[in-house]
Amino acid sequence: MADIGSDHAYLPCYLVKNLKIPFAIAGEVVQGPYQSAENNVLSEGLSEKISVRLGDGLEVIEPGEVDCITIAGMGGALISSILESGKDKLYSVKRLVLQPNLSAISIRRWLIENNWELTGEEIIEEDGKIYEILVAEKGNPIRPYCFNRELELLVGPYLLKRKEEVFKKKWTTEKKNWQRIYEALNQASETTETLEKRQELLHKINLIEEGLNHEES
Ligand SMILES: C[S@@+](CC[C@H](N)C(=O)[O-])C[C@H]1O[C@@H](n2cnc3c(N)ncnc32)[C@H](O)[C@@H]1O
Repeated sequence: MADIGSDHAYLPCYLVKNLKIPFAIAGEVVQGPYQSAENNVLSEGLSEKISVRLGDGLEVIEPGEVDCITIAGMGGALISSILESGKDKLYSVKRLVLQPNLSAISIRRWLIENNWELTGEEIIEEDGKIYEILVAEKGNPIRPYCFNRELELLVGPYLLKRKEEVFKKKWTTEKKNWQRIYEALNQASETTETLEKRQELLHKINLIEEGLNHEES
């Protein structure tokens, strides 16, 4: 696998040490994190199995070199733009594992536009932070979306079906934040911009309420 934006290379080191994968590439675009990835791989004695490479996005991979790519700990828009610019490296790739810090919606949209099927989603809370993990494979990109596409793109079709406690916590908090902004905008003088923003927020608030209240029939 290739872990893009690997920072300390913790993920490739863990996977190789625990015999989950035989070989990994740790890609980094910034010199400091690249050096710390290099140092960790060396000190773990894994240099034969993990290749640490300096470069932007998927440019560190040769075509056909890996069958899985992970990109974690960045915004969804940045993850999508890394995938978009490196499309020519994706032919041999069977699985993408993506962990956006925000805007998972950008990734779900990119996957649909590029014929990747979202095959799984996880949501977890650790040290007070909530993380979403998206897994995709080549397939039918619209298969997971069967209820309300706009809502499912925002919150995740599998996560919506399961509605775990962490999921409810994340979206209840988001909804409260949007309501706070909506009320603040109600106090502000009305311009076309504030009016549009309020309408957009109200739409999102209603969408989330629908999602939280929706029960599978
Ligand atoms: C917050 S860290 C996440 C590290 C690790 N993936 C994790 O989840 O803990 C994001 C890393 O992505 C790197 N990065 C950002 N844009 C990148 C790009 N276009 N190509 C490669 N690495 C990138 C940054 O230098 C940074 O080290």
